[in-house]
Amino acid sequence: MEKPKLDIIGDWSEYKLQILKKYAEAYVKIVKSRFKYIYIDAFAGAGMHISKTTGDIVSGSPLNALNIEFPFDEYHFIDLDGVKVELLKDLSKDKSSVYIYQGDCNEILLDKVFPRVKYEDYRRGLCLLDPYGLHLNWSVIKKAGEMKSVEIFLNFPIMDINMNAIKRNPEKVTSEQAMRMTRYWGDESWKDVAYSSNGMLFEDMKGKTDNETLAEAFRKRLINDAGFKIVPKPIALKNTTGATLYYLYFASQANVAGKIVGDIFKSHN
Ligand SMILES: C[S@@+](CC[C@H](N)C(=O)[O-])C[C@H]1O[C@@H](n2cnc3c(N)ncnc32)[C@H](O)[C@@H]1O
Repeated sequence: MEKPKLDIIGDWSEYKLQILKKYAEAYVKIVKSRFKYIYIDAFAGAGMHISKTTGDIVSGSPLNALNIEFPFDEYHFIDLDGVKVELLKDLSKDKSSVYIYQGDCNEILLDKVFPRVKYEDYRRGLCLLDPYGLHLNWSVIKKAGEMKSVEIFLNFPIMDINMNAIKRNPEKVTSEQAMRMTRYWGDESWKDVAYSSNGMLFEDMKGKTDNETLAEAFRKRLINDAGFKIVPKPIALKNTTGATLYYLYFASQANVAGKIVGDIFKSHN
């Protein structure tokens, strides 16, 4: 096996990992007595990282999920990178009910994983969708919402979006980048949100919208288009200079889950 090169992660990622861990620990206790509870990590990574702040090795989201006090009934880890997948296999070799897949999670989730979390089978899933950038398809988000049995934590990659897909001058956006945005957003309605005449001198002039407006429009899509009942305002994950890199969303059908996440987000803000 090629020697694994672990990712170096910033504060914002450690922060995200803490939020996920707190939620999983709290919610698994409630759900486990009534349902089979499944953990899905679609952009799983190697299971370990190096902290940029301390230089120490820190557990990634799959390892945190494996090590919680009341384990999930099944774990599904997906990553595109073969070296990371081998490391994940190594980390989970002593655990039962762990399924590891190498490939594009946009296909694997729909074909192999979501069918194991059917509402009518009394199964419920917590799915982490944690891409670096615009590598996720809306069809996955929408399917999770329609199934009513899957709740998601979702990273909305605002930095990638601002650098590549929504620029001050829309003519500088390549069609390939616009397409990545459309695939993630689900349709071309992002263009109407991204460029608006609000605050412009003339009505036919359009300017680039701010991050919060885009994030709020996406939150509404999770409710109105994907069919999630509860979507708290996302938390902004920022780098040390204060620039927002991601918005972390949570989307669920359960009021109690929304309440737990709302409290966790509040305590982290
Ligand atoms: C941000 S990292 C995941 C970090 C991990 N969730 C954690 O918190 O420990 C994103 C991962 O997604 C993987 N990846 C990128 N595109 C992918 C795809 N289409 N399907 C599955 N994995 C993908 C990358 O190899 C990388 O390991």
